Amino acid sequence: MTSEQAQQRIAALSKELEEHNHRYYVLAEPVISDHEFDTRLKELEALEKEWPEYASLNSPTQRVGGDITKNFPVVVHKYPMLSLSNSYNEAEVGEFVARVEKEIGRTQYVMELKYDGVAISLSYVNGQLVRGVTRGDGEKGDDITSNVRTVRSIPLHLRGDFPQELEARGEILFMRAQFDKLNAERANRGEELYANPRNTAAGSLKQQDPKDVAKRGLSNFVYTLQGPQLPSNSHYENIIAAATWGFKTPDPERRFIERTDSAEGIMAFIHYWDTARHELEMDIDGIVVKVDDRRIQEELGMTAKSPRWAIAYKFQAEQAVTRLNEVTYQVGRTGAVTPVANLEPVLLAGTTVKRASLHNADQIAKLDLHIGDQVKVEKGGEIIPKIVGVDRREQDAPPVVFPHACPECTTELVRYEGEAQHYCPNEHACPPQITGRIEHFVGRKMMAIDGLGGETVVELVKAGLIHNVADLYDLTNVQLLALGKGWGAKSASQVITGIEASKRIPFEQVLFAIGIRHVGETVAKKIARSVGSMDRLAAMPKEELTAVDEVGGVIADSIIDFFAVEGNRSIVQRLKEKGLRMEVDLSAAQPVGDKLKGKTFVVSGVFRNFSRDGVKEVIESNGGKVSGSISSKTSYVLAGADMGPAKRTKAEELKVPVIDEDEFKRMIEG
Ligand code: IVH
Repeated sequence: MTSEQAQQRIAALSKELEEHNHRYYVLAEPVISDHEFDTRLKELEALEKEWPEYASLNSPTQRVGGDITKNFPVVVHKYPMLSLSNSYNEAEVGEFVARVEKEIGRTQYVMELKYDGVAISLSYVNGQLVRGVTRGDGEKGDDITSNVRTVRSIPLHLRGDFPQELEARGEILFMRAQFDKLNAERANRGEELYANPRNTAAGSLKQQDPKDVAKRGLSNFVYTLQGPQLPSNSHYENIIAAATWGFKTPDPERRFIERTDSAEGIMAFIHYWDTARHELEMDIDGIVVKVDDRRIQEELGMTAKSPRWAIAYKFQAEQAVTRLNEVTYQVGRTGAVTPVANLEPVLLAGTTVKRASLHNADQIAKLDLHIGDQVKVEKGGEIIPKIVGVDRREQDAPPVVFPHACPECTTELVRYEGEAQHYCPNEHACPPQITGRIEHFVGRKMMAIDGLGGETVVELVKAGLIHNVADLYDLTNVQLLALGKGWGAKSASQVITGIEASKRIPFEQVLFAIGIRHVGETVAKKIARSVGSMDRLAAMPKEELTAVDEVGGVIADSIIDFFAVEGNRSIVQRLKEKGLRMEVDLSAAQPVGDKLKGKTFVVSGVFRNFSRDGVKEVIESNGGKVSGSISSKTSYVLAGADMGPAKRTKAEELKVPVIDEDEFKRMIEG
């Protein structure tokens, strides 16, 4: 393929894929199968890899995630991002209309859904997405463009008759089905569930790796347009026009947006959605009412922090009253004790509620709960309902008393300074802690041991075959078969093979798997890269631990506490003897440090000593950056065998030094 052919093919594929993307995510009318889409995307990825000079930042390949962002630059908003004044009753909405009418007479209002997500400002120049910025403090926000590109319903290129300069504002959120899917996957991996779609959307957008953001499957709705060349003075008309530019906008046919010139019209819209919202495919927390004419908006102006031409009506969170039958206490893998309210089943917002989370002892005290109380239960943005207060109490109702002893093993509970949670300190003999830790250890993102789910772990612990994670590596086929019911040659050998295979899992995952309190996936990765081995970690004093990126005092203490326990040390030692990876993979002799700090590499071709991902790891673990395309900012092009000639020419043009694998090794070693 010539350079020109590659350029043309990349352009054609990009255009085609964006079109399919729009059909699928904006119009919900796909015309090709997922498989066909993926095949073309792979072709485009391969071409862009070979011809990076033709890869653009708004390429459809960026939808699955571009380069990692270390921090998000702060950007000043061109137009400030305002907030709305809230009202909780219809009278206030009536007052709003009266005030507007008094000032400018009868006028048109637009009613919209108030999406419960995260506000985003999208800047387009000549139809190209150039920036996506969070609301921040309203004046300035974080530039999260590479994460925004992964949101499929946000157009990367506008179509039709779009204005050359445009700020589109909207909300990034989870559709309920997508959020449930995400949680189902987490449940499968034995991970804690996300409680609330809005917070999860916000957290997702702050991930450093856009690939992780892409996997979350976020959506977007546009609700404000700004710029010097909008087609109409009517906000409503502009929103309708934005659909023709490729945005996902509210559908008038579904009454997602509507116009009226009276308070009654507004109330009718509010009443409709007060019930209909429960059937919606995403969460909304109210209705927004805006004056339609943008000139009148300007005339009405602003108060200190919100416009005088708009108001938000917030729905009451739905409540029900029911009896508190009992409080039970769950002990998690870390020993944390969580109280759970067991309720007389009651219908709330379309589902039957039997349990509510109570978080901790302080929460129980704050609510002053007694057994038998009629309690008010509320479902806000959270999935798990919460008790918000006591409605009625019978005489002599006994108060709920938080236990002093562990409900599972009777050990005296402890409460660490500064923490709200009580813990059972009996780590090595408290049954749910034992099984919880083992379940965590075998999970997908940890040791990924196939065939060992939660129930199997409980079975093995009950049968006395395992007491801790190290015991897994002593299990035999014969032992499993002897368990009888449900065990056959196939399931037993699947487990044994899975355990054996886990010995090849990288150190960072082993570190996450052993379950040091507060050391989650990301922190484990950071520690693994910067500390390098379990032995070094175990011996590190607090000052050195806190010097590691992302490790603060709490995490450092928790690591020290972990290794202070003889039982933990001996388990780690046994795991080491069994052959688990206890240090970063040094097969390619890769020191960890900052030798490449400030250097940006473009990697191309194949290497003798490293895999493609391996090279990138080495660069990053030495403080360098990896970029997909050669520019004047590139420090080196690292050339493996069969690097494409176009890259070499480009590097020469820009006078970027091209180095080979041996030279690279000298750089990191010497
Ligand atoms: S208009 C002045 N329209 O609510 C106009 N906002 O408190 C400001 N929101 O941060 C925004 N749905 O994130 C507008 N249809 C809608 C909205 C909406 C949700 C959010 C937005 C903003 C907050 C305002």
